[in-house]
Amino acid sequence: MSYFEGDVKNVAVIGAGAMGSGIAASLVLNGFKVIMIDIKPEFVDKGLSNIKRILDSRVKKEVITSDQANEYLKSVKTQVDYDNLAEIDFVIEAALEKIDVKTTIFCELDKILKKSAVIASNTSALSISELASHTNRSDRVIGMHFFNPAHVMKLVEVIPGLKTSQKTIETTQKLAKSLGKVGVVVNECPGFLVNRLLFPYMNEALYALELNLASIVQIDEMAVQFGLPMGPFTLMDMTGLDVCLDVNDFLYNEYGERFKTNKLLKLMVENGLLGQKSKAGFFVHDPSLAYGANKEINPKVLELLSGLRKTEQIKDEFSFNQVILPMFNEAIYAYQEKVVELADIDVAMSYGCGLKRGILSLSNEHGLKWCLAQIEKYHALYGERFRPSWFLKKIVRSGIYNIMEMTDNSQKDGLSLAKLT
Ligand SMILES: NC(=O)c1ccc[n+]([C@@H]2O[C@H](COP(=O)([O-])OP(=O)(O)OC[C@H]3O[C@@H](n4cnc5c(N)ncnc54)[C@H](O)[C@@H]3O)[C@@H](O)[C@H]2O)c1
Repeated sequence: MSYFEGDVKNVAVIGAGAMGSGIAASLVLNGFKVIMIDIKPEFVDKGLSNIKRILDSRVKKEVITSDQANEYLKSVKTQVDYDNLAEIDFVIEAALEKIDVKTTIFCELDKILKKSAVIASNTSALSISELASHTNRSDRVIGMHFFNPAHVMKLVEVIPGLKTSQKTIETTQKLAKSLGKVGVVVNECPGFLVNRLLFPYMNEALYALELNLASIVQIDEMAVQFGLPMGPFTLMDMTGLDVCLDVNDFLYNEYGERFKTNKLLKLMVENGLLGQKSKAGFFVHDPSLAYGANKEINPKVLELLSGLRKTEQIKDEFSFNQVILPMFNEAIYAYQEKVVELADIDVAMSYGCGLKRGILSLSNEHGLKWCLAQIEKYHALYGERFRPSWFLKKIVRSGIYNIMEMTDNSQKDGLSLAKLT
């Protein structure tokens, strides 16, 4: 079976929602012709309006001219069927996050696309290998996980399934690069990399709140001081607490106790406190203000918390390390499982969630021995959420001070944290 020669030229995007239209905008802005497909004309129209809005904002900022914006818009064709896909080299599926919707799409596309075409999924969590099993081209099926908003965020997690070929990985990396993105290869695992590392941290922020170790505002401020663009509670409100609950429950089912879902999150969702989308989460959201501008705490959360909190509180001085070390520990677990190259972890967290300093820099700052001792201290206090990775213990025993000693960043092609700044 011959692979297509040359570069990807014609791309189809399936799903014209928030992600599909953002991905299509990114494609046309970088010179690709795109066919964008959804199930109803009003959905493709909405996607097209979103692309127009993105292009208009570039015109306003004088990044492109209005003539260019018109040309780019003409590079997007929309349709509600699978006609005219014979010339398509690469499909990015960004439809609903439901396995039966996606498998039907993969099955259909496999029948009509040219044999050499690649089918990529922007799924947040579903199995790439499972999607591939519904096609006769498992070697040309891959995950291409963009971050929201897709035309802005620089990270793309490139996720090979069990049978994905090296050539498909390279083609996908090349496509990501030609969109001005940084593609980080993440071997398939639940949550891929960024969500897998973010959730133990957000979850632990919830536990710290439940234990009354610090307030919502204090923890959010500490996160910003650490180098995150916003605190965990602001982030959860923006993401949607229902989405956070689904993802955390999914990760708990896959990985077990390290991800044990916090009760407050469940309670908030049960009470309809979904964050920005329901105008109330940890904060009260005033739609007339920019997101995050209002720092007024939702009194209903405090009410729910007082029902949850035990009278006897743990008398341990609170440090933000308690909240951030689960992210560090999970990063080492991911490396232990060969999910990702060490040097790519900080790159992914920087481009995927705006972490200004690397999470692995904790070992540079304090030493691995300190990191392990802290994690073990919290493990003794709080149990399995803090079980340290055996690999972390192994490297501490070997006397390595800083985990980055294990890799030579200078050999990485454009992916070292040093090159980010
Ligand atoms: N929103 C995010 O932050 C985010 C980030 C990364 C990945 N994702 C993933 O991207 C995908 C899309 O998410 P979204 O936020 O754009 O959702 P969305 O609800 O905004 O858009 C989904 C679109 O898919 C369309 N659709 C449904 N069935 C279809 C079909 N059979 N064929 C073609 N189109 C179909 C819907 O009509 C809708 O327009 C999901 O898999 C999601 O998990 C989302």
